[in-house]
Amino acid sequence: MKTHLLACTLTLALGFSLGSCVQTQTMPSETVEGHVLIATWPFGQKATDLALQTLDEGGSPLDAIEQGIRLIEHLGCDRTVGLAGRPNAAGYTQLDACIMSGPDHGAGSVAAMEGIKHPISAARLVMEKNPHVMIVGEGARWFALEHGLESVDVSDIPAKKSAWEKARLSGTPVPDPGERGHDTIGVLLRDAQGNLFGGCSSSGAGDKTPGRVGDSPILGSGLYVDNAVGAAAGTGLGENIMRYSASAMIVELMRQGLSPQAACEEMVHRTAATDPLGYDLSICFIAINKAGETGAACSNDSFPYAVTTPKDSQVLRVGAVTAR
Ligand code: GLY
Repeated sequence: MKTHLLACTLTLALGFSLGSCVQTQTMPSETVEGHVLIATWPFGQKATDLALQTLDEGGSPLDAIEQGIRLIEHLGCDRTVGLAGRPNAAGYTQLDACIMSGPDHGAGSVAAMEGIKHPISAARLVMEKNPHVMIVGEGARWFALEHGLESVDVSDIPAKKSAWEKARLSGTPVPDPGERGHDTIGVLLRDAQGNLFGGCSSSGAGDKTPGRVGDSPILGSGLYVDNAVGAAAGTGLGENIMRYSASAMIVELMRQGLSPQAACEEMVHRTAATDPLGYDLSICFIAINKAGETGAACSNDSFPYAVTTPKDSQVLRVGAVTAR
């Protein structure tokens, strides 16, 4: 990526000047040809492979994002996505998802939604068929049902307390919080035309308080897409991502000229520099820029992620970002 600082004077055809402006613009130097997809975690490769296949079969970029994420929601990968995700403290699953479309800066989001099999499809419906951007809880379920999305009857889900809640109530040791899981499928696409798209879906943190919303459906936190610059997505402990609007910040760092890799790493450093937790944040990021370059970083563990292009599909791994 090259950063160009453009000094410009806006002069309308009418013949008068709106005044001088200074604008930072990122221009791809070595553009990767064709579609480029990046996704969180090794299971993300299933999503990126299906997304690429969807594009090859004539699907739109948003179809590709939706189909890829639907597969992970269906498989319930890692028990952190979809209805098979870990239950909340009251014993049932509440799902979060969002989707963004770069060319029109469209966005749709659902949060704390119960009993809908494919929250990413609900998020896309919000973006395309609803004047609002974000719908939560019972309203999100109602909206999804109104649009015919596949559902389970939430009254059929046994109200069974989670292991953590039972342990708390009985005064026995609460299981390791690390077992609660808080992973997310995030998929980003820079298509062959240079446009950017993204989506993410999560059942959120296991044992969460009912109604808790994580980073995934919060635009700028779990996902952000700017068609002029790039896109970013987060996974990990949502609270530590939301407090810093991390995905939007990563995109802004790319706008300033950082590569996706450097921008993800910088976000971890920045958060660690101000957060009482230091690097013990359990946050990871993926990013892609307009040129199709990709990057990833994670706060306190190595982080596997998937990158798929028409030439290749592989799971890559970055080590934990360490203090500088
Ligand atoms: N990153 C998913 C969540 O914390 O809800």
